[in-house]
Formats: sequence, structure tokens, C-alpha cells
Amino acid sequence: MSQKRARPGSISLSLGGVLSPPLPGAHGLTRSAIARTVERTREVVPQLLGRDAPSGFLKLPKRSAPVRAIEAEARYWRRRKVRDVIHIGIGGSSLGADAILRALAHPDHNLLPDARRSGPRVHFIDNVDPERLGALLEWVDPRHAVVHTVSKSGGTVETAAGFQIVRDSLTQAGVDWRRHNVFTTGKGALRKIGQEAGIRMLPFPDDVGGRYSALTPSGLLTPAIAGVDVSGLVAGARRFAQRAARLQPAENPALMAATVAFLLDTTRSKPMQVLMPYADALEPLGRWYVQLCGESLGKRRGTGSRARSVGPTPLPARGTTDQHSQVQLFVEGPADKLVMFVRSARDRRALTIPGNGPAEYLDGVELGALLRAEQAGTEVALAQAGRPSLCWDLPEIAPGPLGELLVALELMTAAAGSLYGIDPYNQPGVEAGKVAAFALIGREGYADERARIEASRPPLWRI
Ligand code: PA5
Repeated sequence: MSQKRARPGSISLSLGGVLSPPLPGAHGLTRSAIARTVERTREVVPQLLGRDAPSGFLKLPKRSAPVRAIEAEARYWRRRKVRDVIHIGIGGSSLGADAILRALAHPDHNLLPDARRSGPRVHFIDNVDPERLGALLEWVDPRHAVVHTVSKSGGTVETAAGFQIVRDSLTQAGVDWRRHNVFTTGKGALRKIGQEAGIRMLPFPDDVGGRYSALTPSGLLTPAIAGVDVSGLVAGARRFAQRAARLQPAENPALMAATVAFLLDTTRSKPMQVLMPYADALEPLGRWYVQLCGESLGKRRGTGSRARSVGPTPLPARGTTDQHSQVQLFVEGPADKLVMFVRSARDRRALTIPGNGPAEYLDGVELGALLRAEQAGTEVALAQAGRPSLCWDLPEIAPGPLGELLVALELMTAAAGSLYGIDPYNQPGVEAGKVAAFALIGREGYADERARIEASRPPLWRI
């Protein structure tokens, strides 16, 4: 792989911005309330590392054979000198790969000339918008492309549609589609197709759901083909998982972040959770987190008349850009938000601002120092307005720290699930939508469901 191995360095969590005092009692938390509540998450890590773990995501970084298999698969496609990777998948089968690639590859990866790129261009197809896929197929040369289709269930309608269109376009171009495909899939229909057609396949682990799959072939293979150091990423994830197993709950950043966010939601009326990285490279991480948090924690708890809807509402933002957009809302709008910053202590590139400005005071200042000053400024503005914030600190945006952060946010979500008393690994609301889409597109066996939908449609009101 063309990138350097990650240097060790650990992420940390700064929590001072949620404390009361200095925040007013109605908006902040006391150390003792946090300390009491975090104890309720004590069993989360042992359960996730135990034999009957409800999800295998925390055990993933320990498994080294899958990472070797992913790297071997990536080497295969790199040796074949593919120019384009088309990654087809949706939700958890796409967002992790996108977040990893965008965080660790060159910011203009797809635009660089071949010789300066770490690997082939990458295109994510995670929608059934004909404009996007149609346009891509107009120019990508299928003879030099690999299609990575990712679906745990193997039956997701959007992924199936994308796969079928791309397979057909390969065939029409006179290319043997079987030699240009690799699947990451579980035990469903896609596996059967793969077996029958002799497609190269990597397993989607049984015990890991889509949105927790960033450290499986679902999240790693596409970035690895593009030249990202996925071993370094997994090494960072392993470091965090090992740390999580050793630490007391009150020392564990993931459990503490979950506790603080839960208490602010349930005792301080702050259900909005903003993830605001100060780095363009981490913007897709925000979308990954929105799915992880939203789909895991937005749940109905209990049944019948005792049922209650719970869970935070995640919002993505990006510093500094959103200082000129959403920060006004965060500082003066409804006091219903926790802002979670992500910042990096070091820059990958040095860029000094020259003088002769309109902004003379910037003469000789590093652009990265300005980024960090602006993040600190937003933190101060929030604090002065009595709004809580916390901050995930990365030594740098590199494979190791990113791997740590991915596991930390996954563990934070799992711990929050335990505090809310819901199952953070299922998604009944998504399944209901999938069934309705099958019925509406006329899939065989869904006629009754279609009739039910037709009968319960809201009245027509068009103006
Ligand atoms: O997190 C999840 O479980 C979902 O977002 C799935 O990843 C998404 O629905 C795609 O499912 P599949 O991988 O089965 O195609």
C-alpha cells in the first residue's frame, strides 16, 4: 500500500464544556451526576467482549485474519491496475467506506492524475437516482473498473437495482462482469449469485450489523483498493478496544460521552446532538455518525400504552463553514443541543497565510492554527451562551486515531442504547420502509401489503 503506517497516538475526550458550574444548572451537569450514571454502563464492555455479545463490533479489531484477507483482495485489484472502483451499497454498507476513504485519502483523490493518486478513483452509488448512476456509466471505462457490491442481507432493493444496472452495462460493453466484481455479503441472495457465477467474495460478519461494519470488508475493502492503510486503522481500533476493556467507566471516553449525551437529553431537554468536526476530511464521518446514532438509538421503548419514543436527533455540521450557517442557531436558537466537536492537534499539510491582507493580523499565521482558534472560539461562544459542548481530540487525522474514533463512537452508541433501555442493533423502522417499497414497486408476494398501504394513505391535498 502506498501510504505510511500510522504512528501510535491516542484520542481523548474533553468534557469540561458540559459542566455546571460554570454552565447554569438548567443546561449543564455536575460531575457527581455523571459519575453516578456512568456506573450504569459498567457491563457494556464486558458484554460486548463476552461469548454472547449482542454485537461483534468491539471484537472486530482483534481479528487479524480478515484484515489480511482484505489487504490481499485489495492487492489483487491493484495488480490488475483497475482505474475505477464503483462501490454499490447503502446505509451502513456505504457510509463507513466513504468516511474512511475521505478522511485518509488525498482530498482530491478522484481528480489527481493516475501517477499521483494512491490508487484507483472511487465512486459511491448509494441511491437509486438515475442521474447519478447514469452519468457515471457514461464515462467510466468498464474494462478498467471493479464493482464492489456490499450488502449484508443481499436483498436491499437500492443495492440490487444498482448492481443489476452496472452488471448489464458491463455486459453490454462486452466485458465479462464476473471478472470485474467483488461482493461483500452475508448469507442472502447475493451470496447465492456470487457462488453460482464464481465471483470473488468477502464475508459480511454475521454478528455485526451494517452501521457497525466500518471495520469489516464493508468499510475497508474499497479504501484499501484506493491505497488507504487499513491495517493502521484497525491497529488504532484495536488500541481503543483494548483500552476500553481495561478502563473504569469514568475513565472511558466512549462511556462518558454516552452518559453525558444521555443525561443532557433526558434531564436537560437537549435531544439534539451535533457532530461538528473541524476538518473537511471528516465531513463524511459526520454522515456516518448520523446514521449510527439515529438508526441505533431512535427507537420505541416498551409496548402498548407504556410505549415511549426515545433517542437523540443527530445533526452533522462542519467547522469553520457552519460558523457562518448553523452556529447562530446553536448559540441563540433553542437550547436543545449538545455540540460534539472533533479536532486534530496537528495538520497533515502546513500552509502559512502571507501578509498584505485585508487581514494584516494573519501575516505569518498557520492556516491550521486559524482553524483551531476558530474551533476554540465557537466553544467559548457556546459556553458564554450557556450551551454545552464536548470535544473529541485527535493527535492527527491518520489511520490510527481514526480507527480509535470509529470504535469510540460505536461504543458510545452501544452504551447509550443501554442507558435508554433499547436495542441499538435493530432497525424495525427501516425494515417497515423496505417492505412498503417492495409493495409499491409491485414485488411478488407483497400484494396484501400494497392493498393495506393504499387503504391507509393520507387524503390527497395538493395545492
Ligand atoms: O445499519 C444498517 O443495518 C442498515 O443501514 C443497513 O446497512 C442498510 O439497510 C443496508 O443493508 P444491507 O447491507 O443488508 O444491504
